[in-house]
Amino acid sequence: MDHQGNPLTPAEVLQRRRQVVRAVLGVRSALGPQRSCAEAAAPANVALVKYWGKRDEVLNLPVTDSLSVSLGRLGTWMKIAVAERDRLILDGREHSPDTQEYRRMFEFFDLFRGEAGPFLEIVTRNTVPTAAGVASSASAFAAAVRCLDVLMGWGLSEQELSTLARLGSGSACRSLWYGFVHWHRGKRADGLDSHGEWIPVVWPSLRVLLWVVEGGPKGRSSRDAMRHCVTNSPLYSAWAPLVARDLPVALRAIQEQNLRELGPLAEGNALAMHAIMIAARPSVRYWTPATLVALEQVERWREEGLDVWCTMDAGPNLKLLAEESTARELVRRQPDLQLVDPFEQVSVVDSSQPGFQ
Ligand code: PMV
Repeated sequence: MDHQGNPLTPAEVLQRRRQVVRAVLGVRSALGPQRSCAEAAAPANVALVKYWGKRDEVLNLPVTDSLSVSLGRLGTWMKIAVAERDRLILDGREHSPDTQEYRRMFEFFDLFRGEAGPFLEIVTRNTVPTAAGVASSASAFAAAVRCLDVLMGWGLSEQELSTLARLGSGSACRSLWYGFVHWHRGKRADGLDSHGEWIPVVWPSLRVLLWVVEGGPKGRSSRDAMRHCVTNSPLYSAWAPLVARDLPVALRAIQEQNLRELGPLAEGNALAMHAIMIAARPSVRYWTPATLVALEQVERWREEGLDVWCTMDAGPNLKLLAEESTARELVRRQPDLQLVDPFEQVSVVDSSQPGFQ
């Protein structure tokens, strides 16, 4: 939307986004590739205090701050190389230019190159299981900016890379780091102060468990659902005040490594986000009967004395938070849980991974 509330044309959208890229890159905007190829990895992340609602749709600027933890080894490996023509090979399969994945990826790369190219071959592999309901776009755009930084020889700071990744998808700005990340909403109209900040806490016993209760493709995109909720949910006005209360408590719980404080807070925050969706007119509902069965199971485990809490995003699946010993007991009871150490880092490049030619 422009200042009068009129929708921007695609050319105007591209121009606004390119202005931000130029502001971040400065004189480096003029640089061409400094090498022939580059490789990078980035972890997926799950929000403990959610991002729900944009104050600027074009630049993915959020209404509130948010807070996430990374998913360690689950994320994206990417390799980009200067080529004769654009190509996208995703999870070992070449995607044609009319696929959504191709368009989304190259619309992003187009922010950084002119008419003269360079053309790029992108080979990318997600280690997030596709049915896990964990967004792989966040790690993909974070890996993409890391690759570009090396290919173009920019030498940008982590925060600058986070600002650029946000233009691909909002939550991507939290995927530049392992562990906990605080995304500051920022106040500037150009969003240069809206980026992730790494929280220097390593909590070695913390685990995330992915619980896929419903495979299959996700329904409505989070972008679309967010937009709908901001204008059509009578509960949306409660969101920013809730985040303002939750965020400092979550930050303290992380510093103290106190799961009994962080767990209920993260669960309550996710449920509040879903309450906003459910109350929207018309309603947005990502839950299925299997989601409710799983939520009840989490409650039962707690009644039996296990310290486990859950969070959910724009989908029917759950992510559980527990300390390591509890997490192992949960896997024993529910073997389809996938256990993740948020702090497990992958070496930047592993060209032997399937999908790399
Ligand atoms: O960055 P997006 O557009 O994929 O939005 C992510 C939204 C949620 O996953 C629901 C919440 C969050 O903070 O990650």
